[in-house]
Amino acid sequence: MTNDRRNRAWYGMLDKDGFIRRSWMKNQGFPDHAFDGRPVIGICNTWSELTPCNSGLRELAEGVKRGVWEAGGFPVEFPVMSLGETQMKPTAMLFRNLLAMDVEESIRAYGMDGVVLLGGCDKTTPGQLMGAASVDLPTIVVSSGPMLNGKWKGRDLGSGTDVRKFAMDVKAGDMTLKDFMATEAGMSRSKGVCMTMGTASTMSSLTEAMGLALPMNGSLPAVDARRMALAHLTGKRIVEMVEEDVKLSDVVTKESFENAILANAALGGSTNAVIHLLALAGRVGIDLTLEDFEIGGEIPLLVNCMPSGKYLMEDFCYAGGVPVVLKELSAKIRPANTVMSKDISTYYEDAECFNRDVIFAYDDPLKPAAGLRVLRGNLAPNGAIVKPSAASDHLLEHEAEAYVFETIEDLKANIDRDDLPVDENTILVLKNCGPKGYPGMPEVGDMPVPAKLVKKGVRDIIRVSDARMSGTAFGTVILHVAPEATAGGPLALVQTGDRIRISAKGGVLELLVSDAEMAERHAAWTPPDPHYTRGYAKMYVDHVLQADQGADLDFLVGKDTRPVTRESH
Ligand code: FES
Repeated sequence: MTNDRRNRAWYGMLDKDGFIRRSWMKNQGFPDHAFDGRPVIGICNTWSELTPCNSGLRELAEGVKRGVWEAGGFPVEFPVMSLGETQMKPTAMLFRNLLAMDVEESIRAYGMDGVVLLGGCDKTTPGQLMGAASVDLPTIVVSSGPMLNGKWKGRDLGSGTDVRKFAMDVKAGDMTLKDFMATEAGMSRSKGVCMTMGTASTMSSLTEAMGLALPMNGSLPAVDARRMALAHLTGKRIVEMVEEDVKLSDVVTKESFENAILANAALGGSTNAVIHLLALAGRVGIDLTLEDFEIGGEIPLLVNCMPSGKYLMEDFCYAGGVPVVLKELSAKIRPANTVMSKDISTYYEDAECFNRDVIFAYDDPLKPAAGLRVLRGNLAPNGAIVKPSAASDHLLEHEAEAYVFETIEDLKANIDRDDLPVDENTILVLKNCGPKGYPGMPEVGDMPVPAKLVKKGVRDIIRVSDARMSGTAFGTVILHVAPEATAGGPLALVQTGDRIRISAKGGVLELLVSDAEMAERHAAWTPPDPHYTRGYAKMYVDHVLQADQGADLDFLVGKDTRPVTRESH
């Protein structure tokens, strides 16, 4: 056994400190040889009944343990904060960085040599990766996996996407409330994350594309026995990674981030990937900026999954999953390492597509040039983004008058007023929903289409805000405007009746108001009162970075890999 492993500083000493740590662990029935210097593998679990998307992670942890024992390691499972996207108020994103702190400090404080991250629901994957990156041990992700396809009256239902469509249908009088309520249980038929290409499946697919998980981690359904086998194989591999000393920073490079950006475009993946990849890059020390996302702009949409298409993650898995997408992109994919210590090309060289209506060929795509677009201009000096694959083509080049909601409360109180002075050309603007403003930058950027327009058959309208939107959402929605309104960005100065120009192709988001008028408005502007004045939320508001920097906390950027030398007793 190697004597220089990290765990030896916890369990290797034949003195009082070593005795105390081993002895207390032995109250769980672990034998002497568990402490003989073999790799200690932390299994970082975000299981929680309040995070239904991660409710299968207890079983998967057992699968990882089987593999760790088989390979001669010692698995130790530990809980970290869980973030249930659909359950938390004001927004799970407020707590992504708190989870990252929990993960970082738990890994650093305990005597493990490598870590397997068990996450799934939207913020759990990036939160865990960010925290792990700041300690930089050998690390692999195992994701929850998507729910089975939703079913109702013989048709498929996609979580998140269809509930938004049905809510609009009810508003328009095209669906009864009884039917709406009946779809509720049919939408969530098994454990797992949203089975649309929402943020959770986007992030688990991107961990695969970045080589941070084993092949097929992105798409295997949560209840598919092969996911349990994947967990077992991950347990085996993490022990080998410790033996080979392959750290997270040996896997993640600028090229792997570029591969994630390319894959996200082809997947029709979530806009939230932008903010999470930027934050992760900051932890690893890789210079990634919004400009780097422009390589995705020309990539065609290949995956026909909601919200950009019509199928669901189960169909994507059976069609061949992420390996087929990477194979289609192979002329663009950069050479990059993986947790298998092999190039990413080994993940897809044998891939085969089993359904071309689900995964299209690069030369015959579902939609050309559909990757996320970065917009700039005097309304977003530090950038904003739009997702053309989920937008209406005719609105991507547009100029019109703005109608402004100052806060989320203003929007909720007025959006469905019959006398709201808007038509299908109006650009809706929502302020004070950014990282500091809400706080936590919630998924409210896809404001509801006003009822008076829905009744006329309008299903999309341009919306601009400093908020995010759910990965399951759709529409011509301009998000992540930076700097945000609450931080005094130009978004704060927009008034109803101002004209705004948008060009997705040209990368433009412009407020057609003179500089002199803007300066006058800025001089009269005062920041809104903060909603939270104590605890974590206050620390978050005081330290959160803007969207173009990943909305991490300023003092968490980077890593600290020094050994912990001071003792607790
Ligand atoms: Fe948890 Fe969609 S709400 S994955």
